[in-house]
Amino acid sequence: MATNFISLRELEQLASIKLDSNAYQYYRSGANEEITKKENIDAFQRIYLNPRVLRDVSKISTKTKILGHQIDLPIGIAPVAMLKLAHPLGEEVTAQLAHQWKVPFTLTTLSTLSQSEVAKHNKDGLRFQQLYIQKNRQLTEALVRKAEKEGFQGLVLTVDAPILGKREADEKQRFVLPPHLRLEILEELAKEANIQLQTVANNQGSGLLKFFAEQLDQTVNWNDIKWLRSITKVPIILKGIQCGADAKLALEHGVDAIWVSNHGGRQLDTVRSTVEMLPEIVAAAGSVEVYVDSGVRNGTDVYKCLALGAKCVFVGRPAIYSTAIGGREGLNKMFQILQSELVSTMQLMGVTSIQEIKSDGIVHRSKL
Ligand code: FNR
Ligand code: LAC
Repeated sequence: MATNFISLRELEQLASIKLDSNAYQYYRSGANEEITKKENIDAFQRIYLNPRVLRDVSKISTKTKILGHQIDLPIGIAPVAMLKLAHPLGEEVTAQLAHQWKVPFTLTTLSTLSQSEVAKHNKDGLRFQQLYIQKNRQLTEALVRKAEKEGFQGLVLTVDAPILGKREADEKQRFVLPPHLRLEILEELAKEANIQLQTVANNQGSGLLKFFAEQLDQTVNWNDIKWLRSITKVPIILKGIQCGADAKLALEHGVDAIWVSNHGGRQLDTVRSTVEMLPEIVAAAGSVEVYVDSGVRNGTDVYKCLALGAKCVFVGRPAIYSTAIGGREGLNKMFQILQSELVSTMQLMGVTSIQEIKSDGIVHRSKL
């Protein structure tokens, strides 16, 4: 059976069998030599757990709150582009399962399903809209208005991608969006604004790279955060903060949460793993909530991020791969595995609630 996997580490290999190489190389690739992609995973092994014993661990709760919303598990779905490349029901299944598991769902701007369709499948779930600030601010503002209208409760502004990282595998592959798929959100917005949209279909180098260069505004700076803040009351989450100094600036610009990310190692290669950036950012963030993604693959990883002060973790590739492998069933299995691993980690650590997870439960190898 396709969903026979018992650990998220198996997923990349299983997905390589299932997906064509255009999709697989796009999803799998990291920037340049993929040092950071690997570091994101390896870094968790440099952090050790420090269990306490003889505590009643018969009842465990994984419930917590982010931005005032109750969630059942502190494990959300990160924004990932073009999910229909992975499975015909890509965004539909991920939005549905996030609702079922009562976890946050983040919709990419590069979605192959519209915001209104995603909202239908996610019902009263906690959903965020990911965005970039585009050269054409009208398009960005229209995207925000639509997100407000469709009940998205957070705007995740990606700030680590003024340009797209150099994914060599993706470039070699000459990535193209298959002709039967559409970038539904962008195409709808462009149509309304009567703008001609460059498509991702392009057979010279990575089509996506060219698309990005044409759409995204490299002049974007902190003043644009003020602009975004001024046009909407929806909470703003900055995704891609990678140091304490930028976390401080984020605070000063009135953002509601900080999402520590190195884009799964897809942007600047040789940056630190996110779990090792986390302490400095949490210290700078004060009372602003901090989330983290990149390399989270099992329950102990989740635990370590929470112990370092993150309120929630997000997964990218594991959600894509499990959906590719087994659709709804595959993604459900991914959540089952992560939940049961988090629960058993908590039990073995002698902790019964998310709020009890503290930094004295972990120790970095460098401190031994
Ligand atoms: C991404 N990511 C991403 N981020 C974003 O802000 N907007 C996007 O459209 C995408 N698209 C995207 C596509 C693919 C194929 C991947 C793998 C990643 C980054 C994503 O949100 C997240 O930061 C990483 O995926 C986290 O790392 P892991 O969990 O994949 O290791
Ligand atoms: C990526 C972009 C779309 O990582 O964020 O491929």
